[in-house]
Amino acid sequence: MSAVPQSSRPQPYIPDIGISVVKKAGVSTPRKLIDLSLNESSFGMSPKAQAAAQNRCERLFRYPDPASTELRRAIGSTYGLDPDQIICGNGSEELLDIIARLYARPGDEILFSEFSFMQFPIVAMRVGATAVTAPEKDLTTLVDMLLERVTDKTRVVFLANPNNPSGTYIPAREVQRLRDNLPSSVVFVIDSAYAEYVVEDDYTDGAELIDGRDNVIMTRTFSKAFGLAALRVGWAYASPSMIGVMNRMRGIGNVNAIAQDGAVAALGDLDFVARVRDRTAEERSWMSGQLSSLGLSAVPSQANFVMAKFPSDTNHRAAAALNHLAERGVIVRGVEDYGLEDYLRITIGLREENEAVVEGLKGFMV
Ligand SMILES: Cc1ncc(COP(=O)(O)O)c(C=O)c1O
Repeated sequence: MSAVPQSSRPQPYIPDIGISVVKKAGVSTPRKLIDLSLNESSFGMSPKAQAAAQNRCERLFRYPDPASTELRRAIGSTYGLDPDQIICGNGSEELLDIIARLYARPGDEILFSEFSFMQFPIVAMRVGATAVTAPEKDLTTLVDMLLERVTDKTRVVFLANPNNPSGTYIPAREVQRLRDNLPSSVVFVIDSAYAEYVVEDDYTDGAELIDGRDNVIMTRTFSKAFGLAALRVGWAYASPSMIGVMNRMRGIGNVNAIAQDGAVAALGDLDFVARVRDRTAEERSWMSGQLSSLGLSAVPSQANFVMAKFPSDTNHRAAAALNHLAERGVIVRGVEDYGLEDYLRITIGLREENEAVVEGLKGFMV
């Protein structure tokens, strides 16, 4: 056998990228698990979305509409946006990836806040760009720190607002200040995956910051409050020319037909999403209060999860709490891979699920 030819080797930076497998704590008990580790919605999905998805299963021999036309129309009329300025993706994750592929290459920099969504460094690595982070304060994005780190190599700035894993957000005026102070050569991506959950009224998903700009993109998803994570549907809103180039980068049938129909029907049931938001807010404040009364400070969150800070004494470390909960059938997310080894991220569940978390932690904190 001859040596592997040079041309068949992947780009040198690709093998360093971690495969997205979420490590779950080992569980030895056969009981039913309560899985609060992935920020999925605990409140299910609209029955209308379920029925539409099931209905499509009768016609699986047909390809999906490659342009997601009906879905873009439904998104446009729901949010008052021009469908020609919308692209749908196989989850918003696909769209973040497309943005990095379009605008960055080896030697370029992709900038984001220190403890933000782990997909940002991954999409940077996929194109060989350098991931640059800016310090935070109280686990919250600092616009000035991001602006300070912009160089002539910066091509993309990602802002997750609210952020994952912290759940914190920056207000509309700060998002606008960031946009206004970035050079027009830098693409500014406002990732608003958790927008539906926000109850504070100084928040923006960023839609109004796109108008008249050729360097600003907002991304949204049906995976969270709409409860359609399995379908993988996200969307982005930007200028017609940015959407035009993004369309050239995506797969032909990137959003499958079941997903398109399910998402259209979900938009026809916004009362369902409003109830999810209200119940999440109620449970989030209950959970934060319970965590505080256990001496575990809860990071203020506007999303469907909350991070709890554990003490650094050897008996009460976050990693031990993760295992303690897992042994009781409750799965939450350790965030040491984000550099936050004193924290656990807990998705907001139904009341009985949240009670199981609190009961488990009561036993742990004694
Ligand atoms: C901040 C943020 N953005 C984007 C996504 C990706 O969502 P999806 O690809 O399911 O649309 C997630 C998922 O957890 C997220 O936390």
